[in-house]
Amino acid sequence: MAVQRLVLTDFRCYASLRLNIDAPLITLTGANGAGKTNLLEAISFLVPGRGLRAARLTDIARRGGDGAEPVQRWGVAATVDGLDGVYEVGTGVSDEVPVENPRRAVRINGAPARGQAALGERLSALWLTPDMQRLFTEGASGRRRFLDRLVFGFDPAHAGRLKAFERAMRERSSLLQREATNGDAADPAWLDVLEETIVEKGVAIAAARIALIDRLNPACAMGIGPFPSASLALDGVLDGWLNTMPAVEAEDQYRAALVASRGVDQIGRSAVIGPQKSDFAVTHILKNVPAGQCSTGEQKALLISIVLANARLQSLERGAVPILLLDEIAAHLDEGRREALFAEIQALGAQAWMTGTDPSLFVPLSGTAQHFTVANAEVTEQSLGAYAA
Ligand SMILES: Nc1ncnc2c1ncn2[C@@H]1O[C@H](COP(=O)(O)OP(=O)(O)OP(=O)(O)O)[C@@H](O)[C@H]1O
Ligand SMILES: [Mg+2]
Repeated sequence: MAVQRLVLTDFRCYASLRLNIDAPLITLTGANGAGKTNLLEAISFLVPGRGLRAARLTDIARRGGDGAEPVQRWGVAATVDGLDGVYEVGTGVSDEVPVENPRRAVRINGAPARGQAALGERLSALWLTPDMQRLFTEGASGRRRFLDRLVFGFDPAHAGRLKAFERAMRERSSLLQREATNGDAADPAWLDVLEETIVEKGVAIAAARIALIDRLNPACAMGIGPFPSASLALDGVLDGWLNTMPAVEAEDQYRAALVASRGVDQIGRSAVIGPQKSDFAVTHILKNVPAGQCSTGEQKALLISIVLANARLQSLERGAVPILLLDEIAAHLDEGRREALFAEIQALGAQAWMTGTDPSLFVPLSGTAQHFTVANAEVTEQSLGAYAA
């Protein structure tokens, strides 16, 4: 899978940008604030979701200079070689949608697509960013998001499932809270309907995560060169039920738990079990230590291991390798690990976009990578050879 052409309009710092890509490896270097991560973020909108910054749609449109009218319109267009061959994709926010409720529209080959699912059926992308360094030490929600993105590459319906689940959870909770504050009795039949959706989607989400972990574990257990072997697990009540009883029984228990927790959920302190409570637990196999207790460098190496293993598995199962967006990855690795990473990406045949402030780190890719320098939202193609010592 590969991006062949990328066109940005009023996207972050870019008023307009066109790039033609003809190499599997793309390196982008430039000073802090030049616009490197913004470019990777643009590519991350070619798959479902909120992109690699998990940004609000209203933050993405380019802010003009002093006194400029704020715009809400932004767009990313691309020619992509995906699972079904080459297609044209456009996504962004138009001026027509209401400001208070912006929606990211998607067009494929010129025709509007219903929702973002069509993106996931054609393309998958994985990313690693400096922000993710704290993934194993911060709250579980970041780890769940990371895990769900690993699932998307194998199960494009997962994104829609998560959305439907979250919508039903939000509606149930506002219904219960209205009842608690205004005394508007919640319609029990409607609560039943919502909880049925929650049970169905919630169990499907947990099952998809478990299925991914079961498949990914053997690949992660191998380790890749200097990147450590890892063992993955899903930690949660619902996940435990699914591992020990038939799915229908787990559904019954989940449904009963929802009904029993209506009273507690009324006061906004969700006692409900479900996929929104699970944690993605990663263990460094050789050290037999949870990832959160590993050194910063080891945690980074574990993340790279998992992403590479996922890419390798997608290549085996789907016959296509996801696009890799690796922000600032080279700077954080010693030379041996850096070379091993470059070698593995090339062995996978992945299209990888890598950023950094120091072009000399990418010199070993001279002749292989298409290199761009980024300065003040201008992107210029250059030879990496020029940076060789
Ligand atoms: N909506 C926006 N409109 C205009 N500029 C924006 C918008 N959002 C972010 N920017 C600016 O874009 C610039 C480039 O950001 P980006 O994160 O791409 O830099 P970078 O090259 O990755 O830098 P670093 O090396 O520090 O990571 C920043 O100065 C940022 O403030
Ligand atoms: Mg950056």
